[in-house]
Amino acid sequence: MIVLGIETSCDETAVAVVDDARRILAHNVLSQLEDHLPYGGVVPEIAARAHLEHLDHLVAKTMEEAGVDYEALDAVAATAGPGLIGGVMVGLMTAKAIAMAADKPLIAVNHLEAHALTVRLTDDVPVPFLLLLVSGGHCQLLRVQDVGEYELLGQTIDDAVGEAFDKVAKMMGLPYPGGPEMEKLLAGADAYAAAKIDLPRPMRGRKNADFSFAGLKTAVRQLICERVLSDQDKADLSLAFHQAVAEILVDRLEQGLKHMNCDGIDTLVVAGGVAANQYLCDKLKTFCTQQNLRFVSPPVKLCTDNAAMIAWAGIEKLRRGEINDMNVAARPRWPLYKEMV
Ligand code: KG4
Ligand code: ZN
Repeated sequence: MIVLGIETSCDETAVAVVDDARRILAHNVLSQLEDHLPYGGVVPEIAARAHLEHLDHLVAKTMEEAGVDYEALDAVAATAGPGLIGGVMVGLMTAKAIAMAADKPLIAVNHLEAHALTVRLTDDVPVPFLLLLVSGGHCQLLRVQDVGEYELLGQTIDDAVGEAFDKVAKMMGLPYPGGPEMEKLLAGADAYAAAKIDLPRPMRGRKNADFSFAGLKTAVRQLICERVLSDQDKADLSLAFHQAVAEILVDRLEQGLKHMNCDGIDTLVVAGGVAANQYLCDKLKTFCTQQNLRFVSPPVKLCTDNAAMIAWAGIEKLRRGEINDMNVAARPRWPLYKEMV
């Protein structure tokens, strides 16, 4: 099976060709970072126009690099949500046009499900598993019972983790996206100075798996308001912030494992853009070792938005005979767990 995947839900135009032997035949990600830089965040209208401008060319280039004819494809998969609706429509309409012209099945992929299943493209990860989904828009703990069967165990009651990284980075004068920028600062941080920065761990000890990051963000804002930050201050603050986030994630996981439905679970998968953070992954790995859990996260280039994960989710769905008709609509919101019936 060979599937073409298209991803346009945020600020990355991405196209990939993947086969069911778990080979990525071609993989391209065009970042729109420069286009959004002056605004300090992603501007939906600019994103949609940029996808429209680049997608056709990127599809042609990726198909050529994969050395695959349209006839050889078994399906065309595209993100159908959740995401910025203009961009999602561009990707989905393009996929529909290709599917129609080549007479191939169309697969509408949930972007979150694609993050969830990425580890099955790179590793042998049987179901069920526990999924910590940490991205710019989401922070959720889910039980993945099967492909298409997700049970929500806990989620953020305010900001997503990636959003907290981005907002704190912006307060520190760092460019968007803030997560990778803050991680880079860790190299220059002084552990002793970071330990003296007092940041909260919201929800600590609560007997559920919900998350909260708004208080942490506000605490950083108050700290910054009072001082002018040197480069060293920024590095130390970044380390203190990473420590707080890691402790929050570990505490929430620990309570989730105790109090939520985790029977038969022996693997923790961490996915989504924030899973690219090596500091956080190391802390989560240590926690998993203590809990006798296997830790799996995708390689960094497949943590952040990409189309290989969309093509792979397409393959998982195609194996189950789950294809869509041409009327399927783009969805700005599309919760993963509501798919469970
Ligand atoms: O999954 P993703 O690429 O897009 C969404 O679906 O949201 O995630 C993007 C988010 C951004 O908030 C970005 O700051 C964060 O992931 N991120 C990171 C790192 N790389 C990306 N956060 C912390 N450390 C990183 N290395
Ligand atoms: Zn994503």
